[in-house]
Amino acid sequence: MATKDKLIIFDTTLRDGEQSPGASMTRDEKIRIAKSLERMRVDVIEVGFPMASAGDFEAVRAVASVIKESIVCGLARALKKDIERASEALKTAMSARIHTFIATSPIHMQQKLHMTENQVIEQAVAAVKQAKQYTDDVEFSPEDAGRSEFEFLCRVIEQVIMAGATTINIPDTVGYNVPHQFGSLVGRLIENVPNSDQVIFSVHCHNDLGLAAANSLSAVLNGARQVECTVNGLGERAGNASLEEVVMTVHTRQDVFSCTTSLDTKLIVPTSRIVSTITGFPVQPNKAIVGANAFAHEAGIHQDGVLKARETYEIMRAEDVGWASNKIVLGKHSGRNAFRTRLNELGVTFRTEEELNVAFANFKDLADRKHDIYDEDLHALVSETSCEKSEYFKLVSLKAHSETGEIPSAQVTLLVDGEERKAESNGGGTVDATFCAIETIAASQAQLQLYSVNNITTGTDAQGEVTVRLQKSGRIVNGHGADTDIIMASAKAYLHALNKLVVPETRAHPQHDV
Ligand code: KIV
Ligand code: ZN
Repeated sequence: MATKDKLIIFDTTLRDGEQSPGASMTRDEKIRIAKSLERMRVDVIEVGFPMASAGDFEAVRAVASVIKESIVCGLARALKKDIERASEALKTAMSARIHTFIATSPIHMQQKLHMTENQVIEQAVAAVKQAKQYTDDVEFSPEDAGRSEFEFLCRVIEQVIMAGATTINIPDTVGYNVPHQFGSLVGRLIENVPNSDQVIFSVHCHNDLGLAAANSLSAVLNGARQVECTVNGLGERAGNASLEEVVMTVHTRQDVFSCTTSLDTKLIVPTSRIVSTITGFPVQPNKAIVGANAFAHEAGIHQDGVLKARETYEIMRAEDVGWASNKIVLGKHSGRNAFRTRLNELGVTFRTEEELNVAFANFKDLADRKHDIYDEDLHALVSETSCEKSEYFKLVSLKAHSETGEIPSAQVTLLVDGEERKAESNGGGTVDATFCAIETIAASQAQLQLYSVNNITTGTDAQGEVTVRLQKSGRIVNGHGADTDIIMASAKAYLHALNKLVVPETRAHPQHDV
């Protein structure tokens, strides 16, 4: 049997995923997700855009110093200052990659960059040469390649390979391409660029038409050997190609693909849960592979078939993507050491004993209300504990009343910048009444754009995880809260979002600001 090529999985959940409105992550959250990606044996982890902000620089630096098995990558525009900043952030990485890019489509060059073709080539070549001084592993992306002119694309790519690029990534930045066309573009580039055999061709597809995974896979059939993707398909606008769909298609259809990945697919669902918990972006129930219904058989005829022979309706085994790996890890009687050890395994470390004590007290409180504690519960708990540290609005008490024939009401007491404030409100339901009472105190005038509730694990004693999205003056933030009591989880989520809104944010977007 012919040996299969390796398909490199480049995860950009922490960079492009973070460009989803409201999905910004803290340094510690990025570390936890990066550790999970490393455990899953993702080959390259793109952690951020170090030039975006001091916070993003610090996140890339911190992840670079803890990840040992995967290549750690930082994004940089084809600009001297960006590449210097990325190389500084990646200094401590065991294996570092700089990913530099510049737009090559006529519309981007004319309207955004105001540059000629030759100027773009010159800047791209200079950027690759500069990046090469810091690391051998340099990736170049002609942004909006999917709408670029073929001859020009060939010229840029040939030149950056001569300058030392080792990976050429072809982005469908605006999700405009369709599978046969995008596959053929990548195939023709490999055929026509004279030095294409010196590099790995990669693809980076956006999901504006729902074709990101299909376009990526079509490119793989035409010679691409790296796919850039995100967990749960998170990403700018409609998102990126989803890691789970790309990986499981290649694994399930080995009769079609002449390559394979090194991923431990059993960690797909646990990683999806971690990303969802941390970002507050719930996974839709019918999402392929990681949605709650992905392996649930509703129709009686299907259930009957599956019981007789699984293959009648299932093309993958739920266990192979990690659905069965929901292990009970801790409980009421677990001690501080067991708690600390499990969290260390999940990539969570405490800077001080005090931090550990607060998290452990929260854990004990949860274990009193919930019999079995899973990894997902621990992730939610740690997210909450780290939010509590920097709270401007802090929940002191909440009393909600719901009774047949009565108007639902809520009484809320908050600490606002250290001062106790109380409010009472009615509402359409107890959640609505709680939000109205909080708003009476906070007077944020933020608009509620999304309210959603998900069970973190199964059972009626499971923690409900609530996501609240608020918008104010064009800024969007997501808040999340988890609790065995949904009203409490909702209040926590609302306050989490409000606390984000009170902190001014200055963050450059890699593709909007040159
Ligand atoms: O979508 C895109 O073009 C990007 C590039 C920075 C690779 O995210
Ligand atoms: Zn992108």
